[in-house]
Amino acid sequence: MAGSSSETTELRLDPVTIQAVDASDLLADIVGLPEHLRDALWKVESANLQPWDSPGGMVVAGMGGSAVGGALARAMLGDHASRPILASRTYGLPAWTTPDTTVLCSSYSGNTEETLACYESAGALGARRVTVTSGGHLAELARADGVPVIPVAGGFQPRAAVAYMTVAALEVARLCGAGPRMGAEIDVAADYLEQLVVEWGADSAEDSEAKMLARALHDSVPCIAGSGLTSPIAYRWKCQFNENAKIPAFTHELPELDHNELVGWQDASALGRFAAVFLDDSDTPPRVKERIALTSELIGDQATSTHVIESRGRTTVERVFSLVLLGDLLSLYVAVLRGTDPTPVDVIETLKARLAGT
Ligand code: PA5
Repeated sequence: MAGSSSETTELRLDPVTIQAVDASDLLADIVGLPEHLRDALWKVESANLQPWDSPGGMVVAGMGGSAVGGALARAMLGDHASRPILASRTYGLPAWTTPDTTVLCSSYSGNTEETLACYESAGALGARRVTVTSGGHLAELARADGVPVIPVAGGFQPRAAVAYMTVAALEVARLCGAGPRMGAEIDVAADYLEQLVVEWGADSAEDSEAKMLARALHDSVPCIAGSGLTSPIAYRWKCQFNENAKIPAFTHELPELDHNELVGWQDASALGRFAAVFLDDSDTPPRVKERIALTSELIGDQATSTHVIESRGRTTVERVFSLVLLGDLLSLYVAVLRGTDPTPVDVIETLKARLAGT
């Protein structure tokens, strides 16, 4: 990754410049990630749930910013998941949902129709239900039905509540017998992430990794590839580029990418400015690491820039959230460089209102 010194001077990302564009201070919620992790553990505890047994595993039902937590939790648990864990992003539940399945209905607003439909289906199927929400219709229904509600702090954009949704999914996985205890790992990760906030946050040097990457990507369409642990993070990056920076972004995963998308890069530069981003991790198998290096080389002359970005930290929780934090900051910095307020997602609201006939 390279950025000339003249670019660094022109495209400044100092706190004053950031504040001028980030009118609702989304940055505060992004750098609040370590504190959200700690608070999320308390919030789960406050729901006072006692362990139960779901031999059928767990489905995390949710959409968009409220779905990502389930996918990240699944990736973090990896081989330690002792039962199936699936993130479901639609109106219905998998056909294998039975009374032996736990369904965690995850909706920040509590008013997302797909998630409410899953809540009803889970009830009809006799599945064990848990909800995680800041309120809305979901909280009302759950309270009326005696279904536990894990509370989430109010006042965020749903996508900024990623720590709450992930911790809720990890904790519910533990409670229903699908995953191990992760509380200590989450606490330690929160401390580690504080350091990364300093390294990449608004007060970081103009040539910090997050700011340099933002300068390299702000006028291109990011095409982000993950593999294994980093696949749901690649999707998180894509969504954050979409919602914060308001630009198109695409995601794929290795090794599958090498069997199709690789060819699609052949004349990419004639069509537009596409940047290739590969998310890497210390646990990525050697053969996939070789693929990252080779793919990056083979498409290099068609991409505006190529980047291989390694997760940081020791545990999976640290490594996953290091990349989540980097992507969140980076997408906010790209928004700032483009002069776009990162917070509003008006078109999502318009679509929801139109579907509701209002
Ligand atoms: O980021 C967003 O605002 C969206 O992706 C929402 O998370 C999505 O529309 C679902 O809404 P909610 O998170 O309130 O269930």
